[in-house]
Amino acid sequence: MSLIRKAIFPVAGLGTRFLPATKAQPKEMLPVVDKPLIQYAVEEAYAAGIRQMIFVNGRNKRAIPDHFDTAYELESELVAAGKHELLSLVHSIKPDDMECIYIRQPKALGLGHAVLCAQCVVVDEPFAVLLADDLMVGSPPVLEQMVEQFADWHASILAVQEVSDQDTQRYGIVAGTPVDARMMDLTHIVEKPKPEDAPSRLGVAGRYILTPGVFREIANQPRGVGGEVQLTDGIASLMRREKVFAFRYEGRRFDCGSKEGFLEANVELALAHPQLGASFRAYLRGLPL
Ligand code: G1P
Repeated sequence: MSLIRKAIFPVAGLGTRFLPATKAQPKEMLPVVDKPLIQYAVEEAYAAGIRQMIFVNGRNKRAIPDHFDTAYELESELVAAGKHELLSLVHSIKPDDMECIYIRQPKALGLGHAVLCAQCVVVDEPFAVLLADDLMVGSPPVLEQMVEQFADWHASILAVQEVSDQDTQRYGIVAGTPVDARMMDLTHIVEKPKPEDAPSRLGVAGRYILTPGVFREIANQPRGVGGEVQLTDGIASLMRREKVFAFRYEGRRFDCGSKEGFLEANVELALAHPQLGASFRAYLRGLPL
């Protein structure tokens, strides 16, 4: 059994950057090629051995529970039409050994608050947090790489990558002491600093493994950047009590919270798609660019 059994998916954000597409549907349901963003994140958690998926959702998010639920009408139509491949595709969205739990975040008070909402389910074990609008492509998948590291270090681990000067204001930025080629023992973490205030150019990507001690630290945080309860601030407090590591993952991250990143993900995943790739490549080559 995996050392990490539970994953939190904060999905209560309003998705304003994708309006009007997100007026009546959650941004996590936007499809990249043929799957919604949330399904990529859930599959990544499942591949890392996690079986309990905890969604912290808000208003207008019914499409997410529906996506992971049984769809009787659709399934009986597929059975009647003898479309067995499609039927098994629909079934594979939620394997039988996967459990989905839904928690309502009454107000969008920030990422830290969303994580705290799941404390009653996580209780006292280490857990993962996955932000579905960061689509991660890695082999092995990025969260699996992090669970492997957790087996060695038994401490909180944040996925990090280099960011540009102008982008420090979009990320949690970390600094610390390298302990090997990929791991760093953290001394600093700050949410969305200006380039001149940033302790480094290493930004946190949307994958975390956290120890349960972080709940108490989040609960004691005042509102931070943007008037929100920040997960980053809770992690900064945790660092005073426990070791926290940053991990330079191996793989690609698509920032699907931005339109550019979302389009890049669609193009690159379409090119890599076993059925669509070849014809899509030919199509792109024929464009008058
Ligand atoms: C959140 C976190 C930030 C992290 C980022 C990764 O910010 O607060 O520390 O670097 O996710 O995507 P958001 O993108 O939700 O504003």
